[in-house]
Amino acid sequence: MVIELVPLPLPKSADPSRFVDFGREVKGLDPGNLSPGDFAQVEDALYKYSALLFRNVSLSPEQQYALTKAFDPQCENYGHGNNKTESNKKSILHPDLKTIPRVPQVQLIGNGVVYNHEGLAEAKLKHPSHHTFHKTQVSNEDEAKGVTRFYRWHIDAALYGLSPPRVTTLYGIAVPKGPMQTCRYDDDTGDQLPVPLGTTVFVSGRTMFDILPPEFKSLAVRAKVKYAPHPYVWMAPARAMPTGLGIECEGLELPLSELPYWEEAKQKILPVVWKNPVTGNLHFQVHPCGVIELLVNPLPAGAKREGALYADGAHITDLKEVRDLLYKMQRPAIAPSLVYPHDWHENDLVIFHNRGVLHSVVGAFKPNQVRAFHQCNLAASDDPAGPTEGDVKKWT
Ligand SMILES: [Fe+2]
Repeated sequence: MVIELVPLPLPKSADPSRFVDFGREVKGLDPGNLSPGDFAQVEDALYKYSALLFRNVSLSPEQQYALTKAFDPQCENYGHGNNKTESNKKSILHPDLKTIPRVPQVQLIGNGVVYNHEGLAEAKLKHPSHHTFHKTQVSNEDEAKGVTRFYRWHIDAALYGLSPPRVTTLYGIAVPKGPMQTCRYDDDTGDQLPVPLGTTVFVSGRTMFDILPPEFKSLAVRAKVKYAPHPYVWMAPARAMPTGLGIECEGLELPLSELPYWEEAKQKILPVVWKNPVTGNLHFQVHPCGVIELLVNPLPAGAKREGALYADGAHITDLKEVRDLLYKMQRPAIAPSLVYPHDWHENDLVIFHNRGVLHSVVGAFKPNQVRAFHQCNLAASDDPAGPTEGDVKKWT
């Protein structure tokens, strides 16, 4: 049986010509009980369309874990490798504990207090807010009017020691309703985007690559990023830009000597551009906040040097130069017309290609607005493939 795929409804802000191959609703399938034949089609569709939506789903944590693992049967651990249940067995009431005890690869995320949930007597959840992460903040007055920001554009990945998960599954169990909010970029462009309350926003890494001018395409296919050791500890004291697309250069990162024990061998060095295993398309996949260095290969023999950036290759260790370059390459792709804000309904399941999109939490909830989601992603059994020699030739 051929599965039924329907394009996702796009908001008025989106440019439909940029979403032809992005996002599909899968109709008439129970994602918790897929036959091998149906799964093969879902998997194929995921790599082709980057995000799949199933509506009105009933999915246990066990089923969600099994579904997520089916995309990478050899992987085992949660994407960040933290099996909190094992280390906190005696304190399942701990406010920060969000792991489903029976299925530690599935996390409970959201906002407000959730009671008697899948073995958790009480879980206090907090929707991440730009107030705790950005250098500048939306004023209380504007926030009361519904103004908000992207929290942090990212790939779901530990970026240290573990490989970036292939897919993330997000299952909306309790979804508070409220008026639309305005996501403001606050970066002097005047850009803003109307968003449903508590949306998850996605941009295509393929589009991020496709819209680059030739000199940046040439750089992207030759470049690798090196992530900081324990990047989330390293970046913790630093503050993000108002677009949530990277960190302000203020020298606030934790010095490497003050990080928990780390080994250089575990630092991730990943291509800037990742090759889609089904379509062969190139996706610009960089988690800008965690990057510490950029490594650029020289142009291949025979390539035109005119106008080329870093024609002889480079190892860029100046953090400002690294971040400025990445921002120039990534910012165009988060323009309002290129963002898909998902309008969550209860019992929606979204599977997204974590190696093909960037995403962000958006919005702000009041403490009494209870939002409960199950999230699962698994550190992959391999690192993503970069561009082939042919790709590099084509774009340099
Ligand atoms: Fe995420």
